[in-house]
Amino acid sequence: MLEWARHCFLDQFGVSADWVVRAPGRVNIIGDHVDYNGGLVLPIGIGYSTVLAAKANAAYPPRVRVYSEPLDRRAEFSLVDLHPSETRPWWSYLAGVADSFQSRSIHSLSTADTASRRRPEPIPSIDMAIVSDLPVGAGLSSSAALSVAWGTLLDALLATGLSSIKLARVCRDSEHRYAGVPCGIMDPLCIAACVAGHGVLIDCASETHELVPWGDGEVELLVADTGVRRALGDGRYEMRRRECRQAASALNAASLRDVSPPQLADAEEMLDRVLFRRAKHVVEEIDRVRRGMELVRNKRWRDFGSLMTLSHESLRDLFEVSSPELDAMVEISASLDGVFGSRMTGGGFGGCTVSLVEAGSAELIANQMVAEYRQRTGLPSHIMLVRPSDGARILQRPG
Ligand code: GLA
Repeated sequence: MLEWARHCFLDQFGVSADWVVRAPGRVNIIGDHVDYNGGLVLPIGIGYSTVLAAKANAAYPPRVRVYSEPLDRRAEFSLVDLHPSETRPWWSYLAGVADSFQSRSIHSLSTADTASRRRPEPIPSIDMAIVSDLPVGAGLSSSAALSVAWGTLLDALLATGLSSIKLARVCRDSEHRYAGVPCGIMDPLCIAACVAGHGVLIDCASETHELVPWGDGEVELLVADTGVRRALGDGRYEMRRRECRQAASALNAASLRDVSPPQLADAEEMLDRVLFRRAKHVVEEIDRVRRGMELVRNKRWRDFGSLMTLSHESLRDLFEVSSPELDAMVEISASLDGVFGSRMTGGGFGGCTVSLVEAGSAELIANQMVAEYRQRTGLPSHIMLVRPSDGARILQRPG
């Protein structure tokens, strides 16, 4: 990927890149639709990633020229007077993060000594090539990988000194403003902070995280792309967020994180039916992550797998964000020998499932999943073996 990014850059811009940055995609193992409710989540960074090759130059007024190899498109945008565009072009994620880096508030986020630098450094002109082996719209956070890779590059170029959480906030807020997707903190924080061999337990209320050793080789994770795409900007994700806010306010709570399972049970009669189902998913899912962490720490994989499957059922029946294809893939996986648990992962309405499987059986299980899924739905699928990987990193600097 690194060589491929360098090659694309040279091909597009006729000179060698100075910088190369990699950011992984992520897969959430348990805890979906709880990050924007202040809940707990357990994602990992994965080996599939987005890599940027870039070079700054003195062209004035400053602008970004960018080539996306996956889209095979080239674009150019000015760094002067950045603002969100109604048409939301594919490079909006980049413009949004650049805008934050140029705003005065970036220094309130910085950990570097900024006393002498009241104004943000202006971003110079940059040429850049993007390569990626992350499927787009599959729920593996290709957009957050792009934002965090770009933010990591700007942070290094301008010596801003942002911590992972601060970079994650910049990326999340840019995605809200520029891409119109009201996502939570999970994806950018996982991508910025993950470490090989570990899950990232994020407390989305305090926005803190803890690295949790994952596995030791007894289990593997299979991600199955159902091939069905969804767009989080289509309003359904936002609607779920709204329903959660309404449920919290009906329960007199600041967020659903503050509601316990018994409290919710007591309030069942007075809550609207739909809001009750949404709240029940969130409250129980947070509890599952809490219990799941203990099971992971004690390597009780079968029990952890059962929680994953319960999580899927809840996302399907209570939160209603699954799809017939995701349900089919989960049912198929759950019926196979050597699979401990399986669930949809991420925002839902399409995209991927994640299954926890016995080490050594992954290949056989993957083949069975593809064959049975095709038989049942008539659709092709793509199965990826994923292992917890390192987060966003600069792979090459100038000089
Ligand atoms: C999307 C969002 C995340 C999170 C998940 C659901 O991936 O980007 O912030 O809300 O959906 O868990």
